[in-house]
Amino acid sequence: MLDYLQRILNARVYDVAIESPLDLAAKLSTRLGNQVWLKREDMQPVHSFKLRGAYNKMARLSKEELARGVVCSSAGNHAQGVALSARELGCQAHIVMPVTTPELKSDAVLALGGNVILHGDSYSEAYTHAMELQERHQYVFVHPFDDPDVIAGQGTIGMEILRQHQRPIHAVFVAIGGGGLISGVASYVKAVRPDIKVIGVQMVDSDAMIQSTQAGYPIELKEVGLFSDGTAVKMVGKETLRLTSALVDDFVKVDTDAVCAAIKDAFEETRSILEPSGAMSIAGMKQYVAEHDIHDEVLVAITCGANMNFDRLRFVAERADVGDEREALFAVTIPEERGSFKLLCETMGQRSVTEFSYRLGDEREAHVLVGLAIRDRSEVPEISESLSAKGFVALDLVDDELAKQHLRYMVGGRSGASGNERLYRFEFPERPGALMRFLSQMHPSWNISLFHYRNQGADYGRILVGIQVPDEDLAVFREFIGTLGYRCTDETDNPVYDRFLR
Ligand SMILES: Cc1ncc(COP(=O)(O)O)c(C=O)c1O
Repeated sequence: MLDYLQRILNARVYDVAIESPLDLAAKLSTRLGNQVWLKREDMQPVHSFKLRGAYNKMARLSKEELARGVVCSSAGNHAQGVALSARELGCQAHIVMPVTTPELKSDAVLALGGNVILHGDSYSEAYTHAMELQERHQYVFVHPFDDPDVIAGQGTIGMEILRQHQRPIHAVFVAIGGGGLISGVASYVKAVRPDIKVIGVQMVDSDAMIQSTQAGYPIELKEVGLFSDGTAVKMVGKETLRLTSALVDDFVKVDTDAVCAAIKDAFEETRSILEPSGAMSIAGMKQYVAEHDIHDEVLVAITCGANMNFDRLRFVAERADVGDEREALFAVTIPEERGSFKLLCETMGQRSVTEFSYRLGDEREAHVLVGLAIRDRSEVPEISESLSAKGFVALDLVDDELAKQHLRYMVGGRSGASGNERLYRFEFPERPGALMRFLSQMHPSWNISLFHYRNQGADYGRILVGIQVPDEDLAVFREFIGTLGYRCTDETDNPVYDRFLR
């Protein structure tokens, strides 16, 4: 720890980084009943903390090493940190990015003078190519997290927080990808004020560090969720695992909806738009406060990045209220008789309706999709009760992906010709051409009877498919689904399907 304390105190970051502000988040403080501070790393010159570690590593290279040039692989913030540092130090940076990298990100690196090399479909392929280039040209490899100088550079954030807030702090919340940021921050905090808790935040579908600390060695994940791209790491580093295991007090896992809600919280507080990884600390903090019933404490969340693709905002805005449990979604069954639709509207009272879809059903009953703005989830049972008091049956759909992702955007309704239909929800990494690739893999001998896809600017494409499969073909069909290699959920027995689509 002493070694890291010295490294952090001696780190060279301020040639390129600013001492970012530690801002009081007044609205979040009131809502959470704690004093919440945001460490604004989104305000760094390249809109993330990554330049601290990259610069500290590169500023320590010899003249001869700098003359050879550096290489790294990254699809995002590390690339910009390395390119900016190289420009400052007058060296050439070769940055290998997957061919699927959005132009916005490769353009940012080009604008900083980096030599962009597009290679491979994934981060791992880009990484392998960067290692080959290192061997071939004797470049210096700048690791995104598993390097003591990179870790020490990120640790300067911990140093600044303790200088900026000298009164008691209960906990600091930190997003984890490969673990460089939390290793640096925890090394400083635990050396100087060990009473402060350091809490790591990971995505539920990208939790390599949590799994690795439990196992005691780096676990390699087969797949990682891409929504929070800055933290989508399949395998953490040896050194970051060692430091995190020794120093981090606790971990929280958050989901996409919670991160969207946190992006909205940060926007309301600061008018900045954080990228998903940048808002994970806030999502983790909210969850931790609720789970541990914490009041009147001082909490710090590091808002570590704001390189958000603009076209993702639609998805984020749509999911934010659901994630914050500010929107309830119901399927309400009403008798198909005169006045019952009006009665349903009256039962909603003064509540703000976010969505209302009704279509005359059969002669007996109709199903209505109703979205309502709520303060929190505790209101949901109350609403269900007021509906059933009037003779309506309400199905709570807040956790139903079929309803949230597809049903509310679909046209077509029910079909009398949907015999033998099975309903599946698929997810696949969203890339140019991915939808066509998916379609071309569908078996030609089964009839597609329902299809819904909507590009939401998220990293996963979501498709709902109805396929008519005769009973005798079911076993072969299930085998075929297994060979597609996409995440798949059978929704055939979902009551939403029965009520609105079949
Ligand atoms: C915005 C953002 N947050 C968090 C992380 C994760 O940092 P680390 O890999 O050091 O854990 C990254 C990594 O690039 C990032 O860009």
